[in-house]
Amino acid sequence: MQDVRISGVGEYVGKTVTLSGWLYNKRGSSKVQFLLVRDGSGTIQAIGSKADLGEERFALARELTQETSVRVTGEISEEPRAPGGYEMHLHEFEVVGESVDYPITPKEHGVDFLLERRHLWLRSKKQHAVLTIRSEIIAAIHEFMHREDFLHVDAPIFTPAAVEGTTTLFEVEYFDDRAYLTQSGQLYMEAAAAAFGKAYCFGPSFRAEKSKTRRHLTEFWHMEPEMAYADLDDVMDVTENLLEFIVARVLERHRDLLEQVLERDVDKLALAKAPFPRISYDEAVALLNENGQDFEWGGDFGAEDETKLSEHFDRPCFVHRFPSAIKAFYMAPDPDDPRACLSVDCIASEGYGEIVGGGQRSDDLAFLEARIAEHGLPMEPYEWYLDLRRYGSFPHAGFGMGLERVVAWITGRRHIRECIPFPRMMSRITP
Ligand code: 4AD
Ligand code: MG
Repeated sequence: MQDVRISGVGEYVGKTVTLSGWLYNKRGSSKVQFLLVRDGSGTIQAIGSKADLGEERFALARELTQETSVRVTGEISEEPRAPGGYEMHLHEFEVVGESVDYPITPKEHGVDFLLERRHLWLRSKKQHAVLTIRSEIIAAIHEFMHREDFLHVDAPIFTPAAVEGTTTLFEVEYFDDRAYLTQSGQLYMEAAAAAFGKAYCFGPSFRAEKSKTRRHLTEFWHMEPEMAYADLDDVMDVTENLLEFIVARVLERHRDLLEQVLERDVDKLALAKAPFPRISYDEAVALLNENGQDFEWGGDFGAEDETKLSEHFDRPCFVHRFPSAIKAFYMAPDPDDPRACLSVDCIASEGYGEIVGGGQRSDDLAFLEARIAEHGLPMEPYEWYLDLRRYGSFPHAGFGMGLERVVAWITGRRHIRECIPFPRMMSRITP
């Protein structure tokens, strides 16, 4: 592994170092070449002159092609005008691997062309920035959850039963039987909440979504906390504190990527501070109708409705107490309204849509048995889950946060396909 990475060259000013990377771009004249080299941690300009390199090496430098892997050796100096603040005075370079006709050039490409070459597209500046921020968000989530005393408990991916409805289940062969790819780790986290009080899982969830929207992946990363002796309000409290923490951390560490590379309006993002506004489903329906949307009570919000709702607030908002009929079987009924349940969605600001869904779970065995039957689900695969109501049932609540949705909101990407390294969608499973 290399000793010096470009992100750390500041400690080597005046010294000669070797950096290993790829040629991002180059420009120059017949006397001097500016090689823009990237190594994953950053980019640096290496300046090679004919005088220093000699006729033959200089001619070779002039012919280097985009994404050729190279080792460059030279002296580091400070240069405030250079990207990154430093540059290299090139003494020597070595071609490690050639790159002939690299397909992604600095000109504009269509998104299908780029997605087809996602394995290479990751090297581009914007994609690099989005995935850097994704990694920071993941780290921030773990840090926050650890600080709040949640235990990280992994949920299985092969499962015997549906969590979020049968229409989006992926069925797989499982020896002589059938299994499903998990839609959510929630049911397992409810077991974990009884064991540990506060738990969360963070892994992939799968939805056979037949919708080709910009917010749906068939495989997404799902962070799901579950809390014992907690209610709907606790879900909203934890969600807003978590989102505030994540945004603050990204702004603290990657403001430059947001502003300069991704052109995100960071002032708007910085408004995401707790408390977030909380409105009921009924209030949301009224708000939509007052503002010209023709929305009927009982329906689920579409992308446009969520966008309209978000326009009323300067930060993410909560919509709580949805009609039971449009939510999953496990939702606790609202004691004040028989049609509603203690569910909540958090809708991101600026039209980025739902980023969190959750609520309070029913802790009543008979109610859940009835709901499972009403939903046309087989009872047997849920027996273990119902045990949680047989052996010390307890009030509890939790939520699921879709990582890519959060990344899209924070980085200002219109489509969540750019917010995961290798997106899986209805029409795409390669690369
Ligand atoms: O609202 P959902 O379906 O809720 C659940 O799965 C609950 N069991 C979570 C829980 O309470 N533990 O999904 C939760 C979140 C959504 O708000 C969204 O952010 C994300 O998961 N999500 C998706 N992200 C990308 N592509 C999809 N197809 C998604 N479906 C849900
Ligand atoms: Mg939802």
